[in-house]
Amino acid sequence: MKLVILGGGGFRVPLIHRALLAERGEPRVTDLVLYDVDLRRLTAIRHVLDQQAALEPGEHAPVSVSITTDLKEALVGADFVFSAIRVGGLEGRVIDERVALDLGVLGQETVGAGGISYGLRTVPVATEVARRIAELAPDAWTINFTNPAGLVTEAMAAYLGDRVIGICDSPVGLTRRVARLLGIDPATARFDYAGLNHLGWLRGVYVEGRDHLPRLLDNPEALGSFEEGKLFGPDWLKTLGAIPNEYLYYYYYAHEAVQAARTATLTRGAFLLRQQHDFYAETERDAGSALDAWRRTRAEREATYMADTRDIAGAGDRDSDDMESGGYEQVALSIMRAIARDERTVLILNVRNRSALSIVDADAVVEVPCVVDANGPHQVVINQLPPHAAGLVASVKAVERATIEAAMQGSRRAAHKALALHPLVGSVTVAQRMLDAYVEHFPQLSYLR
Ligand code: G6P
Ligand code: MN
Repeated sequence: MKLVILGGGGFRVPLIHRALLAERGEPRVTDLVLYDVDLRRLTAIRHVLDQQAALEPGEHAPVSVSITTDLKEALVGADFVFSAIRVGGLEGRVIDERVALDLGVLGQETVGAGGISYGLRTVPVATEVARRIAELAPDAWTINFTNPAGLVTEAMAAYLGDRVIGICDSPVGLTRRVARLLGIDPATARFDYAGLNHLGWLRGVYVEGRDHLPRLLDNPEALGSFEEGKLFGPDWLKTLGAIPNEYLYYYYYAHEAVQAARTATLTRGAFLLRQQHDFYAETERDAGSALDAWRRTRAEREATYMADTRDIAGAGDRDSDDMESGGYEQVALSIMRAIARDERTVLILNVRNRSALSIVDADAVVEVPCVVDANGPHQVVINQLPPHAAGLVASVKAVERATIEAAMQGSRRAAHKALALHPLVGSVTVAQRMLDAYVEHFPQLSYLR
C-alpha cells in the first residue's frame, strides 16, 4: 500500500515510520511518500528515517521512503493520506498565542482563541488539499492530524465525506490511564466517551455490562495518582462524575491557565519553535546525528507537554506510565489496519455526528467511539452528554461553524462572530481587537473581507 504524509517534513513523522517498520500482517504499507512545501525539513526527516530503518529494520519487507514537494505526484495512487500540515509553521503558532495573551485571552492552538486564528489559516489550505485528494486519489482514506482537528476534519468532509477521519491521541491516553488504575484490560472494556476534539468526557468504563468508573471516582487516592487526577484534582472529578479530557483544564481553570500562560517566559509554541529550529539546524549541519538529535528533542517535548498547566495544578513532572499512551501514530495505524484488513477495532475518532449526539446536527464532526472495519468508522451507541457538557459542546461547535463559514466565504464578520462567541474570550470588543491583530500579522488572512 502507498501511504502519503502531507506535512512529511514534520517533526513527528519518524513516529509513524517507526510504527510502520514494526507492522506485521498484510496488507501493509510498502511505499511511504513524504510531501512537504519545505525541502530542507523533508531532507532532515529523511535522514532520521534512514537511520531509524538501519537500526530497526523490522522483520518484513522494507518500507521504501521517498520525498517530494509535488502534491500531484504524491497523491496519485495513494491508498491512505495522513494530513499533518501546519499552515504558517510554528512561527504562526507563536503569533496565535501571543496576540490572544496580550489581550488577556488564552491563545492555545486548539482550545483557545489561537485555535480560531489557526483554523482561519488552515481551512482554506486543508479544503484545497481535500479537493485535490478527491480528484487525484478518490479511493484513498484521509486521516487528519492537523489541529484544530475537529474543525479541520469537518471542513475537509465537505469534499471527502466519510472518507476523512480526524484523530487525536488524547482520548486514547485518557482511557488507557483509567483502565490501568482500574486494573482492567482496555481491550475488554467499553469506554463511554463523547464530545468534540479536546472537549470530551469519559462517563463510564463498562466490562461485562458493569460500570467500573464509580469505583475510581470513589477512591480519592487512586484518582489523585494519575495525570487527569493531578490536573483537575480528585474532588472536582468526583463532583463532575466523569473524567474530562486534559484540555478541559483550560475551561475549568480558565483564570489560572491564562495567568500561567501570561507569566511563562515562553509560550508552548515559542518553546517548540526554538526546539525544532535547533533540531533542523543541527541535522543540516551534521546529518549523521539526525536520529540522536531527534530522539533527544522528542523526549524533551513529551516531558514538557502541558507543563504550564501541570505547574499551576501542582501536578509535578509527568509520570512515565502517564506518558506511554500508545501515541497518535498508533491510533492512525490502527485505523489503517482496521480498514485495509477489515479487522474490527473500536477507536475514539472525529467523524460526522449522524445521530450520535442530539445536541449537534448530523454533519457536525464530533469525537466519539467508533467501530472501524473495511467500510470505515461507524459510531457505537453512547449516552447523551449531561447538560453542562452539552451546553459547552453546542457553544464550541457554533464557534467552529462560524470559523469554517468565515474561511469558506471569506467573511470577516463570521470570523469576528467565531471569536466573540468563544466561551473563553468573553468580550465582543476584545474579539474585534484580536481579529484586527491576527489579520495584521498574517498575510494569509487577507482573504477576510
Ligand atoms: C497531544 C494533542 C495533540 C497535540 C500534541 C502535541 O497529543 O492531542 O493535539 O498536537 O499533544 O502537543 P504540543 O503542545 O507538544 O504541540
Ligand atoms: Mn489532539
